[in-house]
Amino acid sequence: MKFFLDTANINEIKRIQEFGLVDGVTTNPTLLAKEGGRWEEIVESICKLVDGPVHLEVVSTNARDIVREAKDLIKFGPNVVAKISMSMEAIEAVRILSSMGIPTNVSLIFSPLQALMAAKAGANYVSPFVGRLDDLGHDGMELVSQLISIFENYGFDTEVIVSSIRHPGHVLDAALMGADIATIPFKVIQKLSHYPEYFYSS
Ligand code: E4P
Repeated sequence: MKFFLDTANINEIKRIQEFGLVDGVTTNPTLLAKEGGRWEEIVESICKLVDGPVHLEVVSTNARDIVREAKDLIKFGPNVVAKISMSMEAIEAVRILSSMGIPTNVSLIFSPLQALMAAKAGANYVSPFVGRLDDLGHDGMELVSQLISIFENYGFDTEVIVSSIRHPGHVLDAALMGADIATIPFKVIQKLSHYPEYFYSS
């Protein structure tokens, strides 16, 4: 299973790179805003630093603007993936971007059918948000298990990024289920070496 770091903090990326554990990075506008300064400069540094995909989130909500913004974002580097929040407009945009060879990650996935739609549209990645589902009293990892089965049933090569990870238990379950990627906050990645009694607490 690949480890992505869910952060926009350069020092966190550098620290985890020292262990050889960074296969990619996911960011979002909240994480970028937390860093302060110009987001473009931060993104430029992350794209240079990371030897692997860097997921940058599109904020537009209609298909035409999503496509335009994604085309701008990929100018930051050859490793950029356009991260797009799930909606029908997003699915339309993913279809267009896929035909242009622009890699996409459909994010904010809360149901297996949303993931199926994204895969059929040509998304390279889908991001089920397990922690947010757990917060609402659902079972986030059940979603991951279901969408992995669906992708296997039909031979989709869309990669599953387990997202919104809150504790090492999410990472353990993701690995047991055969998820392609877990995108992990710095605090959680540090806890992966702890004893199992801590696994399911944030
Ligand atoms: C990753 O792509 C997501 O932006 C991130 O995992 C969301 O996590 P949160 O639910 O803690 O905001």
